[in-house]
Amino acid sequence: MQNATDSLTIVRPDDWHLHLRDGAVLDAVVPDSARQFARAIIMPNLKPPVTTTALALAYRDRIIAALARAGIGEGSFTPLMTLYLTDNTSAQEIATAKASGAVHGVKLYPAGATTNSDAGVTDLLGRCRPALEALQKSGMPLLVHGEVTDKDIDLFDREAVFIDRVMIPLRKALPELKVVFEHITTRQGAEYVRDAEGPIAATITAHHLLYNRNALFLGGMRPHWYCLPVLKRETHRQALVEAATGDSRRFFLGTDSAPHPKGLKEHACGCAGCYTALHAMELYATAFDSVGRIDRLEAFASLNGPAFYGLPVNQGTLTLNRAHYEIPAELSMGNDTLVPLAAGESLGWRIADGS
Ligand code: NCD
Ligand code: ZN
Repeated sequence: MQNATDSLTIVRPDDWHLHLRDGAVLDAVVPDSARQFARAIIMPNLKPPVTTTALALAYRDRIIAALARAGIGEGSFTPLMTLYLTDNTSAQEIATAKASGAVHGVKLYPAGATTNSDAGVTDLLGRCRPALEALQKSGMPLLVHGEVTDKDIDLFDREAVFIDRVMIPLRKALPELKVVFEHITTRQGAEYVRDAEGPIAATITAHHLLYNRNALFLGGMRPHWYCLPVLKRETHRQALVEAATGDSRRFFLGTDSAPHPKGLKEHACGCAGCYTALHAMELYATAFDSVGRIDRLEAFASLNGPAFYGLPVNQGTLTLNRAHYEIPAELSMGNDTLVPLAAGESLGWRIADGS
């Protein structure tokens, strides 16, 4: 790794948590991810959700077709598909997914936890035991949206409560199951993943490294900072930065870039999700540089993820330069408008042209 003050060249990174959607939105957003990343774990929360290998393979074909329409060859961006776990997912379906070679994980959405999660799991160990045992055997990870959904638990506490109520019992019942605790947002999440026994890792978004919950209310209500799990207080942000930039290999990059049309974000009941695929590496570089740890970005973005998933490290490189980068106010997304996170603000890093 070359690490001069003003330029950083790293092994080409991957995004281990990405929402690409479908149709015209997919066409609009997939080139952004392909410009920055070599591979991405594709979230299955379409409507209807991607619950079978057949649906995942068909979705993969649509992604590859969208890439081709944008002039991006199959070799330069690989979608790593996932299945959406339901109360009815069979052990056979997990075996089929593994055999396909195209599916790389199974996503757990507690029913009602977030966007398009109505078909999610109602009772993990009660209803999903055969699928979880097959998953443990397959070596593919369970990708966990780690928030309880109980109405009586404060929204800001839902991740911490999830660890005690769901994560610990799950991992006790299936100690060899590989688990990715997706988009952790709390000190409790970071410490649990750092210290727990057995095969566990976590993704961290750029927005949870850069912002605390004040960003939601700075000068007025700002729906483009609203995502799930919601931004937390500053002490949690600091714990996430420590985890991402520290020595543990259990933390890696997952943008959770989640595009929604502007009209559904700026709405009386605005959708959760921040669009960061456009400027993901610029955002992460800014976060790492803010604590003087730009040297740790390569491990987080390019090395730790493949090691956990059992995949090879990418061949190419990506160069980031210390340079002024102004985030566009708006992008077009089919017939809609898409507002990227921190639209109109500037960052101190940008990826090199042709990188
Ligand atoms: C995601 C989406 O819009 O699909 N939203 C979000 O706030 N992150 C769903 C999710 O990953 O929770
Ligand atoms: Zn997500």
